[in-house]
Amino acid sequence: MKINIIEFTEDHSNVEGALVIFAFKGDEGYILPPPSEKLDGQVGGAISKAAYGSDFKAKFGQMVEIMAPTGIAASRLLLVGIGDAEKFDGGQAEKIGGKIIVKLMHSGEKKVTLLSRKFAAAGAFGALLRHYKFDKYYTTEKNIKKSSVETLTMMTEDAKQANKEFADLEKIADGVIMARDLVSEPGNVLYPESYAEQIKEMTNLGLEIEVLDEDAMEELGMEAILGVGQGSSSQTLMVIMKWNGSKNKKEQPVALVGKGVTFDTGGISLKPGAGMEDMKFDMGGSAAVVGAMKAIAGRKAKANVIGVVGLVENMPSGTAQRPGDVVSSMSGQTIEVINTDAEGRLVLADCLWYCQDKYKPKFMIDLATLTGAMLVALGQEYAGIFSNDDALSEQLTAAGQAVDEPVWRLPIGDGYDKLINSDIADMKNVGGRYAGSITAAQFLERFVNKTPWVHIDIAGTAWKQKPSDVAAKGATGYGVRLLDRLIKDNYED
Ligand code: BES
Ligand code: MN
Ligand code: ZN
Repeated sequence: MKINIIEFTEDHSNVEGALVIFAFKGDEGYILPPPSEKLDGQVGGAISKAAYGSDFKAKFGQMVEIMAPTGIAASRLLLVGIGDAEKFDGGQAEKIGGKIIVKLMHSGEKKVTLLSRKFAAAGAFGALLRHYKFDKYYTTEKNIKKSSVETLTMMTEDAKQANKEFADLEKIADGVIMARDLVSEPGNVLYPESYAEQIKEMTNLGLEIEVLDEDAMEELGMEAILGVGQGSSSQTLMVIMKWNGSKNKKEQPVALVGKGVTFDTGGISLKPGAGMEDMKFDMGGSAAVVGAMKAIAGRKAKANVIGVVGLVENMPSGTAQRPGDVVSSMSGQTIEVINTDAEGRLVLADCLWYCQDKYKPKFMIDLATLTGAMLVALGQEYAGIFSNDDALSEQLTAAGQAVDEPVWRLPIGDGYDKLINSDIADMKNVGGRYAGSITAAQFLERFVNKTPWVHIDIAGTAWKQKPSDVAAKGATGYGVRLLDRLIKDNYED
């Protein structure tokens, strides 16, 4: 779908396709903003009649559709309520953009024009995100249900400014969509080697990409991540992405770290069969990091950012890791692997240690579909965060609110930490029945070496069974916007 943002004109009689008009709540029912009054005569009459006839109150998202209006070129008019005009902001514009595109994308219309006036960039961004669908594996027309909309035109009061804003938002959408694509791919298509190849293609954005193979990781003592992959016929890989956008090329970077388990069977501690197919999404943390790096490079962010992802498949086989095995890690700390299904923390342990050791970042933020317990605690609305740094947690919480990818902080501390002490090694990889998401975070904290750090457990937010205003059902791309915003608001020159 192509997006055009153009200057508002008073005359809409020649606009073809679907013409979208907005109304907001007023003292007596609703108010059509001034430009719509220009749709006078027959058209204005038709709108009023349809609006009154359908009890239109300009409630947020309320819509009235008028087919084949006479007197103008448009083949349909869509009257959309935006609620209270004073409350309308970029976030709401995004949602309205999404709602409009859902309404029209299977209408047969190729052109959609919004008389959006304000918040045009945000509206277009919402529409773009909601328009996305992972449909590459459908082969018949019947299954595809492709969108008919080819161009979305926003008519706005300051097109120059809106185009400038949209230029960055489009790059962020690229990142979100890449993350969704990666999460949606099945395990037979996306495995560590094929995943690393896709990441390498981002060198065309000016990112520097480095891949550590199994030999390199062995050399570094990364037994924790290697143990997870040892039952798989795929390679285990660690991929490092570098963006050096700060004026000061020596500026300490910020670092993003992601769990990239391309499929999680549980290993020898095998998961039950029902629903196991969902575990293709277990690389969602890494996808958020890759997508964020794409957005950051795409919009040429003035910051130095490192992305580290651990790519591995967790399979049961004759060579797989056993429950009870003891492995070392790059940090030198030893781990008793009680449950091979608690593999994400083993992957991140070596990623985090490597990251702080090699790049000495200002902070590390890791993202992972780490625990089922996260869904029990917070469901699919908020991601849980766990941190050793109050200021960074607050920045992340603010960024989450700004982009509607909210996070909720949960506690960590010594009482939880001791639950992962082992009888035979420095720690064990599970902490018992209670506080499963917290004991997982405690495990990670042992590998951050006091670097300011936040762990984001996205087990509940990476995938949704129901569509939202800005995403079809399925992969959400959660985390891309959050990370991009955190950096934009706090860590750019
Ligand atoms: N990838 C899963 C976490 C998960 C499970 C996310 C279900 C979303 C839905 C992770 O590797 C895992 O299996 N965790 C275990 C840990 C347990 C063995 C301590 C879990 O949450 O059950
Ligand atoms: Mn697991
Ligand atoms: Zn997992």
